[in-house]
Amino acid sequence: MKPYKLHKDLKLGVASASTQIEGDINNNSFYEFSLIKGRIKDDSTPFVGNQHYKLYREDIELMSKMHIEIYRMSIEWSRLESKEGEFDEAVMQHYIDEISLLNEKGISVLITLHHFSNPIWFEKKGAFTKSQNIDYFLDYVEYFAQHIKGKANDFCTINEPNIYAMSSYFLGKWPPAKKSLKLARVVAHNLAISHIEAYRILHREIPECHVGFANHFVYLAPKSSHNIFDKMEAFLMRYLFQDAIMKAMTQGKRTRLLGSLKQDKGKYYDFIGINYYMRNEVHKFDVKPGEKGEKNDLGWEIYPEGLRLLCQKLHKQYGGDIYITENGICDAKDKIRPHYIYSHVKAISDLDYVKRYYHWTFIDNWEWLEGQTAKFGLVDLNYETQERTIRKSGELYTELIDNHAFTSEMINKYFS
Ligand code: BGC
Repeated sequence: MKPYKLHKDLKLGVASASTQIEGDINNNSFYEFSLIKGRIKDDSTPFVGNQHYKLYREDIELMSKMHIEIYRMSIEWSRLESKEGEFDEAVMQHYIDEISLLNEKGISVLITLHHFSNPIWFEKKGAFTKSQNIDYFLDYVEYFAQHIKGKANDFCTINEPNIYAMSSYFLGKWPPAKKSLKLARVVAHNLAISHIEAYRILHREIPECHVGFANHFVYLAPKSSHNIFDKMEAFLMRYLFQDAIMKAMTQGKRTRLLGSLKQDKGKYYDFIGINYYMRNEVHKFDVKPGEKGEKNDLGWEIYPEGLRLLCQKLHKQYGGDIYITENGICDAKDKIRPHYIYSHVKAISDLDYVKRYYHWTFIDNWEWLEGQTAKFGLVDLNYETQERTIRKSGELYTELIDNHAFTSEMINKYFS
């Protein structure tokens, strides 16, 4: 292991999502879904979370103590507009207060507007399966933009449109548990339009803002690099899973998978957002974690080089700044996380166009189908007492921020 420096403009922080952390969530699609026995591994619901909505001041204090520079957070649409067309001013004020406090502490925010969950009323209308529903999302975006003006400049419209469309409408694992390729394509198509329209609204309301979205990227490799079929299938899987939607959302371009968006072609991104966790191998149209690398608690193959290769490829294709909007590991014992951070940050440390790295996540949270069982936090959470304890990897992360480098002292301290 070798020490390394971070290029001068690279900022480090943490990412989270409202449904996973806020607590008292009982009005969105994931809450309803979690009430069905057997859907969530431990039958927990997002109602508990880590009570961040109540404890946000303490959490920001902790972030500040850990010298976190940047924070990616999301807004709970089901809270802000719990009934169709009725925006709750007290909730808006809450987010203004939270964001103002972050600003005061010098932690700059990137705000996600849609992170997987929908208000129940929107879900009941068919959510993004219907093009006429897009306006409901845009009304919320407009309201939020008008009220947050002057307090925030960086926005991520939609988190992982590819994972949402696939898990909810093709694999049937997430609400509303549909299994239809046709619906998944329609949803992806409508999400692309939603992003482009939200991009326009945000720029109209806050002209100096930066807007993008966070796509999920897996390093998809052929199982055998000598097998022409594996290679072709890996290429096809990359197109279906991540590349087509990128083209549509960033540029409004027609793709075979999503069809024509009937939007003007243009440039609808001010940064490229990459959520990256793992490498998978493709063989006979089956996609599985590879055998070579180490695995996290969920069996995902760890492959830091994949992050670098993806950044290089996307930069070549799209240019401009890249933000690593999520990268992290499920590791309850915190055994692999220190090295995971070392190797993934190293992989991007000299790429001067990668401007931000948001570690997923700050405090253990409600991990969708895994409920409270999966531990992704730099900070451990005791769900009973809501006590937060900084893990060793959290301490390491603070040192990495302070030194703006991974020093030989850190290597000795954390890996001897
Ligand atoms: C999602 C997060 C999730 C993380 C770990 C990402 O796909 O955006 O919400 O917690 O992966 O599974």
